[in-house]
Amino acid sequence: MLKIAIIIGSTRPGRRGEAIAHWVHEIAQKRSDAEYEIVDIADFHLPLFDEPKPPIMGQYTKPHTLAWSAAINSFDGYVFVTPEYNHAISGALKNAIDYLFNEWKDKAAGIVSYGGGTGGARAAENLRLILGELNVADVRAQVTLSVFTDFENYSILKPAPHQEAAANTLFDQVVAWSGALKALR
Ligand SMILES: Cc1cc2nc3c(=O)[nH]c(=O)nc-3n(C[C@H](O)[C@H](O)[C@H](O)COP(=O)(O)O)c2cc1C
Repeated sequence: MLKIAIIIGSTRPGRRGEAIAHWVHEIAQKRSDAEYEIVDIADFHLPLFDEPKPPIMGQYTKPHTLAWSAAINSFDGYVFVTPEYNHAISGALKNAIDYLFNEWKDKAAGIVSYGGGTGGARAAENLRLILGELNVADVRAQVTLSVFTDFENYSILKPAPHQEAAANTLFDQVVAWSGALKALR
């Protein structure tokens, strides 16, 4: 069975990302094509990148890196739930991605972005550039949630009706490519 991580890309107290990741996970739970698990980068307490060697060498020295590496390595694909911070992904998510290399390589990913008027579209484009460098195959389908139209009073998540179908299309593509890339790995 394929294993897909739903990664919470914000560590901000009061973050919207947590509710969004749980909504994504609920949709995933109705499917039988993979095992889906939430991965919260906040749980790993990663400091700003503090490994002496570049991650591509895989010579980790810190317990937090080893724990993060083991978690990410155990998945075949990823759904990144990313906020938009200043037209990019959050510093916390970039830092968490930077910690590893081979754990991400030759795997598939989908993006659920959120933010103001563009639903985090610019963060998603930024993430696609980063994933390209890691040899991660990012699928075309995307979910974009706006704090204006997918939240009640900017605080309670109430995704517009079309968003569940968008999430399922995203999962369809992530599962297909995760399976294909497993053969390559
Ligand atoms: C530091 C910071 C920068 C932000 N920059 C943008 C931005 O450039 N574009 C945008 O649409 N929203 C921006 N926002 C709004 C966030 O996308 C929105 O508050 C979102 O809920 C943040 O994710 P979080 O709640 O999971 O931390 C920014 C928010 C923060 C905290």
